[in-house]
Amino acid sequence: MKLNIALLAGDGIGPEVTKQAVRVSDAIAQKFGHEISWRPALTGAAAIDAVGEPYPDSTHEICASSDAVLFGAIGLPKYDNDPSAPVRPEQGLLKMRKKLGLFANIRPTFTFPSLIDNAPLKRERIEGTDLVFLRELTGGIYFGEKGRLDDGETAFDNCVYTRAEVQRLAKKGFEMAMTRSKRLCCVDKANVLETSRLWRETVQAMEKDYPEVEVSYELVDAVAMRLVQWPNTYDVLITENLFGDILTDEASVISGSMGLMPSASVGSKVSLFEPIHGSYPQATGLNIANPLATVLSAAMMFETGFGLHEEGAAIREAVNKSLEAGIVTEDLAGDKKAYGTSEVGDWLVANI
Ligand code: IPM
Ligand code: MN
Repeated sequence: MKLNIALLAGDGIGPEVTKQAVRVSDAIAQKFGHEISWRPALTGAAAIDAVGEPYPDSTHEICASSDAVLFGAIGLPKYDNDPSAPVRPEQGLLKMRKKLGLFANIRPTFTFPSLIDNAPLKRERIEGTDLVFLRELTGGIYFGEKGRLDDGETAFDNCVYTRAEVQRLAKKGFEMAMTRSKRLCCVDKANVLETSRLWRETVQAMEKDYPEVEVSYELVDAVAMRLVQWPNTYDVLITENLFGDILTDEASVISGSMGLMPSASVGSKVSLFEPIHGSYPQATGLNIANPLATVLSAAMMFETGFGLHEEGAAIREAVNKSLEAGIVTEDLAGDKKAYGTSEVGDWLVANI
């Protein structure tokens, strides 16, 4: 297969971790007879510095005309500490999601047998955890009208959802549940929010189309608690943008490190694959960041993006072996030897 992949390395550790995912993908392509053409493009703070815009049109054209997008991370502290900055790297990410129509963000949380005792939660709590969030990604409070009143002392962010937006996300949730244990949890705050009541009503109305799926409705605060109490009781969870942002960070540490969890964002056109962690600016250039979340995002790209399941499985297998062999970065090494970002990549490439 000939594959054109837009490569958006972004900020902070983005370039280092995507570099290893590119090496691993190239090794897979060579092994299975594919031809990848990487198409690098600017995004985030790097793009602001170069052209004054975090998601330039030239980058959008590259993404929109590629078979997939592999994304690193976006954001730098100089912008976080300056709330009045006129352009922010994160705006690029939001613009990209909207322009590429990436309305569903798939964020799995699973455990690695060799890492269970590294995780912050007790073994008996997390063993067997294999859940996936479908976070709505192009609506809600992230994209509603926002601003300040004239007095400058009052600010607002509106949360808006249409039935159609809920339906298309929920449809993906039902379909995913059908391929797994057929359990779907709708996460909302229907006891308080009108948008949540629309979510619940919409999902309830869809239940009849998927009679085999067992649907539960849970309030977001209760889910936040149960996620650390009994994460292995969940299968597929659907939720709106902000709840999904928060809960997926929480869920990611169940695996042992935030540096391990991949994600896919899908919609009507091209799909995007990225680690769920951020740009970890303190680690930039130190060769210490864990590349596995990005490498596993590349595995999702082969599977979800291209339907190449053997290729994705080969990446996962190499990752599992590296963990068993203790070829891990400092976030996972504990008191054992920590390997560098590029050394983990070397090991994976050699083993593929
Ligand atoms: C994420 C990130 C982004 C989000 C930020 C960087 C805008 O936290 O992908 O989860 O909030 O969606
Ligand atoms: Mn987030």
